[in-house]
Amino acid sequence: MSHVVDAPATGGSGVSAAGDRFAYTGRSDRRLAEAQAALGTPLAHPVRSDVTDAGVIDALRDQVADRLGSIGHLFVNQGIAEFQTLEEVREESWDRIFDVNAKGAFFTVQCLAPLLSEGGAIVFTTVSNDQIFPGLSAYSAAKEAVAAFSKVLAAAALYLAVEATFTTGVELTVDGGFGQGLGA
Ligand SMILES: NC(=O)c1ccc[n+]([C@@H]2O[C@H](COP(=O)([O-])OP(=O)(O)OC[C@H]3O[C@@H](n4cnc5c(N)ncnc54)[C@H](OP(=O)(O)O)[C@@H]3O)[C@@H](O)[C@H]2O)c1
Repeated sequence: MSHVVDAPATGGSGVSAAGDRFAYTGRSDRRLAEAQAALGTPLAHPVRSDVTDAGVIDALRDQVADRLGSIGHLFVNQGIAEFQTLEEVREESWDRIFDVNAKGAFFTVQCLAPLLSEGGAIVFTTVSNDQIFPGLSAYSAAKEAVAAFSKVLAAAALYLAVEATFTTGVELTVDGGFGQGLGA
């Protein structure tokens, strides 16, 4: 298995990799240390990063390149949610959610895509798009943005691939339990 970057993995549904070195991100040293203790393997490389800061994302590329070289899989997992009614949504909360969930996801890929090895894959954590989640209008809109630009990136990758033998657009049913009726 090739190298994995899990960006980030300090959250509850962060992905942990097995079999080869991998890097994972989080914003605080404390949460990274907790994750490192839970992972309990020298294969895991914590990298402090905040996707809302372009300069920090650039530093992420350098650190990942330094520790892993190329990467085989990139999991773009970061996300925040705020349950708000139409009246409660403010410009600040709308921007905060889009900054992390949409803009941060895009620029994480822009930053790390050059490190992807041939045949590598990018996986975005979005949401079950055929369901309506009351109170999550900004969150749902940001996740739809991710779904939209991921198709453009996939089309570009297919276009750029010399041998387009891989498939894209596969949707995995990993949704925190909502699809199975286990969510809130
Ligand atoms: N939980 C659900 O029911 C559910 C359902 C569908 C989809 N999802 C999606 O699954 C993903 C993970 O969710 P979760 O439930 O595991 O949430 P979580 O436990 O709150 O984890 C969120 C992760 O995002 C990171 N993060 C937040 N803001 C960030 C920023 N500015 N820069 C970099 N990293 C940032 C957090 O890292 P630090 O706080 O350590 O920095 C944490 O690792 C999200 O994309 C979420 O939208 C969740």
